[in-house]
Amino acid sequence: MIIALASDHGGFSLKEEIEKHLIGRGYEVIDLGTHSQESVDYPVYGKRIGEAVAGGTADVGVAFCGTGIGISIACNKVKGIRCAVAVNSYMAEMAKRHNNANILALGGRILSVEQATEFVDIWLDTEFEEDRHARRVRLLDEM
Ligand code: RB5
Repeated sequence: MIIALASDHGGFSLKEEIEKHLIGRGYEVIDLGTHSQESVDYPVYGKRIGEAVAGGTADVGVAFCGTGIGISIACNKVKGIRCAVAVNSYMAEMAKRHNNANILALGGRILSVEQATEFVDIWLDTEFEEDRHARRVRLLDEM
């Protein structure tokens, strides 16, 4: 599985940590930036990772900004993207189990590395439940 990563400056440090973790777990990672703490605009990076996942360059993505909110809004403007913010492990699990989120958004200013690592692992390791949720996800994708 190929995992795309992208962040603004608010999520940069956390992205770097999660990248190391994912490589350690044996995933192929594409880092779409940003590559420093210098201030940048999260919509640019949300569009970039959204298009990478929607276009098939990557299978899924993890996006980061200060809160996870801004970059998730940007990702969700790309057709085919279902990006979910997670601030706890239940949200990380449900983002996959019920919403089949193809991008997980995390906040570099609100989560510890340990929390973010836990959420990413839960999201990656959880299966989409299908059944009635497949119909709802299909309705989302038709919007
Ligand atoms: C940048 O200062 C901050 O606004 C951004 O990282 C993010 O939190 C926006 O939603």
